[in-house]
Amino acid sequence: MPSTVPLSTLRVGMVGVGMIFEETYRPFFEAVARRPLYDPTFGVCHAELAAMASRTGARAKKYREQLRSSLGNFAICTEPDAIGQLLREPVDVVCIATPDDRHFDAARAAIAAGKHVLIEKPSVLTLAQLDELVAAANDKQVLAKVVYHKLLDPDHKKLRTLVVDGDLRHVNHGYCSLLEPKSISGNQFSEWIVGRNPGTYVAVHYIKLIDFTFGGRLKAVICDGQRGIVGSADGPTWDSVQLRLIYGYDGGRDAAFDIHTSWVTPENFPGYVEQEVQFRFDNGVWNGHSRKRGVECTIEGRTPLERKITINNHYNGTFLEPWGERSQRGYGIEVLEQFAREVAFVEFGGAAEERSTRLAAMRQLTYNDLASDRATVAAVHAMEAILAEAAAGRPHAVAEVDHQAGGLVLWIPGDAQPRVLYAGQVYGTRSAKSAT
Ligand SMILES: NC(=O)c1ccc[n+]([C@@H]2O[C@H](COP(=O)([O-])OP(=O)(O)OC[C@H]3O[C@@H](n4cnc5c(N)ncnc54)[C@H](O)[C@@H]3O)[C@@H](O)[C@H]2O)c1
Repeated sequence: MPSTVPLSTLRVGMVGVGMIFEETYRPFFEAVARRPLYDPTFGVCHAELAAMASRTGARAKKYREQLRSSLGNFAICTEPDAIGQLLREPVDVVCIATPDDRHFDAARAAIAAGKHVLIEKPSVLTLAQLDELVAAANDKQVLAKVVYHKLLDPDHKKLRTLVVDGDLRHVNHGYCSLLEPKSISGNQFSEWIVGRNPGTYVAVHYIKLIDFTFGGRLKAVICDGQRGIVGSADGPTWDSVQLRLIYGYDGGRDAAFDIHTSWVTPENFPGYVEQEVQFRFDNGVWNGHSRKRGVECTIEGRTPLERKITINNHYNGTFLEPWGERSQRGYGIEVLEQFAREVAFVEFGGAAEERSTRLAAMRQLTYNDLASDRATVAAVHAMEAILAEAAAGRPHAVAEVDHQAGGLVLWIPGDAQPRVLYAGQVYGTRSAKSAT
């Protein structure tokens, strides 16, 4: 019987083929190749990996060999001009999973070519870059979004539900910690670790969680850190970072959040990463531990090095399903599927003349739209600037948001005037361009 369900295909280009590709994008593409997306609005939609841009192409070629039977013969684009080549392939969507200081150029090129874009966290490192991408996406009428998969963690969804429903009232302060193993700084990122810090890499998960869950307005950023393991004790590369954000809420009350991160945890730590949060409210306390969710498994001779003792089965676990199927699932993969659904809805979810209405609706989704990433990018921008000052011998600077001198200003101890990092407003309508 002929099908009456509309069939469509999204062709995806992947920029950067590292750890996060292996953990989340590969299982997403494999799952969607077996079972395409379906929604009553857009019908059946295939999401195909059409091309990969990677610096040398070595990993991409390995993946093509390994995944040819499930994902087909995707194109491989290598330096020089890997992104230019990828954009000449017939792709509709570009996913960017390069190191965080290389997101902006790839995203700008992809949006300029009229592609929908998904960027791994943190989206970009400065507010000016964010302004440019948001304006370009608006101009080209495409989606520009960022992956913060912790917002889809069931525990964090529950936290937000309790806050939105008024069960937990007015957050007063919070503490979050995310400690990565030494292999991240010493092995995986060793090529581009110089000048980088673990705060931008992982505190950003909790910056977004705090911003998205509790609302309010970021007012100030303070930050400190330690050096001497990954790089020299007086160099620009950080082992660990302690970030403090001050938020203001309606009614004139403030809250403070401390986020501690590192990437020098010993390899024999019982879990892949240490992740815990505590938030205190007027009428309650939320304590969450994403590593110790209840399972401990010891296997002689294998844990905790080859396998970990405390397992996060919620992020991207591999399973034998009760019905016999092998699967890899979790919120790290769901977040990619959700984005693909948003693009499919824009492109195939109704009449062509109503595309702009659908696009506007998807851009209203504040959990992942770049236009809603201002506070998070402001915090990252401030953290990067404070750490750079500290590395240059001027520690303990404080950043203030929407000061009369500028939207993001840095007070350096001893200076009479703040340094303006961003002239436009973080909250409000004045962009840096109109302020200068
Ligand atoms: N969602 C998450 O929780 C999560 C977890 C880990 C990493 N990330 C993010 O994903 C991004 C990548 O991290 P990763 O852990 O996969 O890093 P990785 O070092 O394992 O991989 C990065 C890849 O990008 C490639 N690359 C570098 N420069 C490139 C360029 N100019 N053009 C094309 N390819 C380039 C590298 O060759 C490498 O294959 C980062 O932004 C990181 O913050 C997100």
